Amino acid sequence: MQTVPAFDLKLLPSGSALTCRSDQTLLDACIQIGLPVPYNCRSGECGACMAKLNSGQVQELPGADPAIFNDRHRARGNILTCLCFPKSDIVLDLALIETESASIRPTTVDTIVRRVDKLTPTIYRITVETPRPVEFHAGQCFEWVVPGVAPNRTFSTANRPGTDSIDFHVRIYPGGKIGTFVSRMSSGGTLQLLGPFGHFGLSSNSWRPAVCVAGGTGLAPIMSVLDKAFHVKDTRPIHLLYGARSRDELYCSRILRDWVRSVPSFTYTPVLSEEPADSGWSGRRGLVTDVMMEHLGDVFGLEAYVCGPPAMIDAAVSGLERAGVLEGDVRTDRFVQAKS
Ligand SMILES: Cc1cc2nc3c(=O)[nH]c(=O)nc-3n(C[C@H](O)[C@H](O)[C@H](O)COP(=O)(O)OP(=O)(O)OC[C@H]3O[C@@H](n4cnc5c(N)ncnc54)[C@H](O)[C@@H]3O)c2cc1C
Ligand code: FES
Repeated sequence: MQTVPAFDLKLLPSGSALTCRSDQTLLDACIQIGLPVPYNCRSGECGACMAKLNSGQVQELPGADPAIFNDRHRARGNILTCLCFPKSDIVLDLALIETESASIRPTTVDTIVRRVDKLTPTIYRITVETPRPVEFHAGQCFEWVVPGVAPNRTFSTANRPGTDSIDFHVRIYPGGKIGTFVSRMSSGGTLQLLGPFGHFGLSSNSWRPAVCVAGGTGLAPIMSVLDKAFHVKDTRPIHLLYGARSRDELYCSRILRDWVRSVPSFTYTPVLSEEPADSGWSGRRGLVTDVMMEHLGDVFGLEAYVCGPPAMIDAAVSGLERAGVLEGDVRTDRFVQAKS
């Protein structure tokens, strides 16, 4: 059997040393051994995994978002570790981050589909049962390993860890391969997961207030962190602003209203951007990021958690910065499209 060549990879200033196969991205090699390196999208769309190539040669996959990574970055010797494979031994300037989420190494998990619930015209909740409680941090995501669908699609967990089931909220896009797969899913079927991945999750600063901003299925990881937080009686003030187009695209409303009743420190504002004027909706209208700005007020000590489509995240992050929220106090989960 032919063996895949492997190279030495060293990270500075930590001095962490590992081996990276030539068919593995530098980022995946780090994640696989549980090194706490920065990343988010794993597909060249966010820039979180950028590092300086101190020495060595890499093969870069095309597909980086030019607004995030371009020839100016390359000229400075920077690379995106999620898009680069080693062609020699490598030394990177890449500082490790403080996070607990890297502690769980991704593995494959065979699950049984228990429920397929249509929550809105375009969003399904898929509940899978796992052979034992699968380790993940609330808000992390898993790849779905679906035969004939490459690359794997990524979906966030939508319930707390520690049970023997995982919920996912999946938006169906016209022509999307996962849509076809979901339409054929039924109780008793199988789904293989690979994970967990990602650093999204509530900080351990339980004395600090938090604002959560979600759009579309960006609600999923927020539901996961809230489910965990309320389960462990976390009493930090949390305000959730949830943006959907119309009333029939709002979901999880009953659970959220129950939490508002049972958890005094939790408040929730749904915001609709395209609800017909005469529909009788008496809640907030407009863009969730505009309503967020009105809501912010005194941002001293505030932490922000923003999940969903990249355009919404960019608008929220720039609004939060303008309002004085520190960059390090904003955590994001960008739901970018899988790239072939
Ligand atoms: C970290 C992370 C977590 C994610 N979590 C979730 C989640 O919990 N729930 C969820 O629904 N999605 C989530 N996503 C997004 C999801 O992985 C992608 O949307 C995926 O491409 C969907 O695959 P598909 O087979 O349905 O569509 P594809 O076959 O990939 O695409 C089909 C068509 O659908 C459209 N499309 C697909 N994805 C998007 C998108 N994200 N935005 C706009 N248009 C799109 C495009 O027009 C495309 O041509 C996450 C992504 C990341 C990176
Ligand atoms: S660009 Fe590499 S993780 Fe997002």
